[in-house]
Amino acid sequence: MEIGFIGAGKVGKALGLYFIGHGLSLSGYYSRTESSADEAAKLTSSHAFRTLRSLVDSSDVIFITVPDQSIAEIDREAAAVLNEYAVMPEICWFHVSGAHSSDILAGIRKTGCEAGSMHPLQSFGDPAASAESLARTLFTLEGTEKAVSVIRSILDRTGGKYVRIEAENKPLYHAGASIVSNFLVTLIESGICLFEASGMVRAQVFQAIEPLIDATLSNVREKGTIDALTGPIVRGDYDTVRVHLKALEDSLPSEFEFYKAMALKTALMLDGNRLDHEQIEEFKRILEVRV
Ligand SMILES: NC(=O)c1ccc[n+]([C@@H]2O[C@H](COP(=O)([O-])OP(=O)(O)OC[C@H]3O[C@@H](n4cnc5c(N)ncnc54)[C@H](OP(=O)(O)O)[C@@H]3O)[C@@H](O)[C@H]2O)c1
Repeated sequence: MEIGFIGAGKVGKALGLYFIGHGLSLSGYYSRTESSADEAAKLTSSHAFRTLRSLVDSSDVIFITVPDQSIAEIDREAAAVLNEYAVMPEICWFHVSGAHSSDILAGIRKTGCEAGSMHPLQSFGDPAASAESLARTLFTLEGTEKAVSVIRSILDRTGGKYVRIEAENKPLYHAGASIVSNFLVTLIESGICLFEASGMVRAQVFQAIEPLIDATLSNVREKGTIDALTGPIVRGDYDTVRVHLKALEDSLPSEFEFYKAMALKTALMLDGNRLDHEQIEEFKRILEVRV
């Protein structure tokens, strides 16, 4: 089985390295820019294709690893190429977007080819490091029965962990991934802004908060989210929350609404667990939530 890629970026290169690292064979890469395809081909000892048709001619499975906004365009191009064949090649097509289902590959499906999506629940950077991290990554699968069975057989070869998801649930699933990955960064940035406003120097802040972040993550890992929580809200320490709100209102109003939203979410997640109804109502009053 020859595996090809359209899009020689972060995910395309990391997946290529991951597959060859587990004894699978790559046809190679077709990309918008020739130099990108050349670089990925060199990295994975595979081939750089100059046309989509030549990649199709040499592949049994094709991963579309272009940015989400280009997947529909690739679907149209691929469908046009496939329609040139007198006998339709038996190729399985996958995109790797978390937000979209394989419905976005409607043109390819219409030609009779199998199509699916395989989302690696991972954040990609350097290809070699990302390929290594794929060993611990969960892949979320969806698509036609045949496509899902092909991707399962590939992941069984690599030892990859996978789950199946319904097409209509992908946007929610991906919003979840955005919260735990992207918004975690936003959350840290918001905290850093507060430290800076208190007089600390940004360069020193990250080093200072690293042990705090590590301990929090390790608590969540050990105990789960609700039991891992510490701080004024779980202690029912209303005055401390009032002091925070006053300081933000006076000195950093840009973070005021964000703090209130996070504090409310924190209180509500403890409702009936570590805070009783009265305490939740008091937090709602402090945070100016209309009941
Ligand atoms: N990055 C992540 O952490 C991550 C995680 C999970 C899933 N994903 C998914 O992975 C997919 C790719 O993301 P990425 O981060 O690898 O993006 P990327 O690093 O920007 O790479 C995209 C590649 O596709 C090529 N490309 C763009 N438009 C093209 C077109 N019309 N025809 C052919 N090639 C084209 C690019 O161009 P050049 O040829 O000019 O280089 C580039 O090499 C997306 O669907 C994304 O949602 C990403």
